[in-house]
Amino acid sequence: MNAIITGGTKGIGRAIADKLASHGWQLYICSRSKEDLAATKTTLEGLHADTIVHTAVVDVRDKVAVQTFGNLCLEQLGGQIDVLINNAGVFYPGSIYTEEDGALESMIETNLYSAYHLTRKLVPAMINKKKGLIINMASIASFMAYPNGGSYSISKFALRGFSKVLREELKEHGIKVTTVMPGATWSHSWAGMKDQLPESRLMKAEDIADTIWSVINLSDAAVVEEVVLRPQLGDL
Ligand SMILES: NC(=O)c1ccc[n+]([C@@H]2O[C@H](COP(=O)([O-])OP(=O)(O)OC[C@H]3O[C@@H](n4cnc5c(N)ncnc54)[C@H](OP(=O)(O)O)[C@@H]3O)[C@@H](O)[C@H]2O)c1
Repeated sequence: MNAIITGGTKGIGRAIADKLASHGWQLYICSRSKEDLAATKTTLEGLHADTIVHTAVVDVRDKVAVQTFGNLCLEQLGGQIDVLINNAGVFYPGSIYTEEDGALESMIETNLYSAYHLTRKLVPAMINKKKGLIINMASIASFMAYPNGGSYSISKFALRGFSKVLREELKEHGIKVTTVMPGATWSHSWAGMKDQLPESRLMKAEDIADTIWSVINLSDAAVVEEVVLRPQLGDL
């Protein structure tokens, strides 16, 4: 089995990569850091004898770079794509009226357009195969507004919309589409809060990865359309 994971070097994407690699999957991961990708590849390939990890330096804000990455994946995986995980994303806190100029554009490019362009590149091969799963990493910010959510929330509402449209379009082709909407989860983005909050206040990235593993392992007859995960004590 194989999977493509954008932003597979840190946080939630990395936890998903760890999970799949430990089961011997072939992975194609991307991020902006060559060093992080090389270190991740070494660790992941050590988790299971069958695991092969391909890496590519990609800035997912760049449409042409995303399309080139899509072509690389198709070539390397021989057009056989089992799971695509549109995970790469950034969160710049702020209000619509105070956040920096360009925050909206930057988060729409990273959190929405990347998923749109990569999916468009890969879906024809999945349709040919009449099987596959696309997972879009949305957020609780995809269905509710909260202080300091600003343009992040706009981008994640849009990503959920993209995911819902895709679900309707692809169901007759045998391709599943799942929108994952986590609340606060320990990751690189939350590193600055480590000394202010107890470890148990946020979810672990592994909790999201375990949920995705369950989603992947359902029979062909069932799809998880949407999943909401929250810290046990609720939102921060
Ligand atoms: N953590 C949470 O509380 C939480 C909650 C709900 C949803 N989410 C969503 O879950 C996803 C992962 O978040 P995370 O918290 O795990 O983030 P993270 O720890 O900051 O990791 C983000 C990953 O995406 C990559 N990335 C970021 N910008 C990129 C770009 N322009 N091009 C290519 N790769 C890029 C990063 O690598 P480089 O920086 O090296 O490129 C890294 O591998 C995001 O979509 C986020 O919105 C997170």
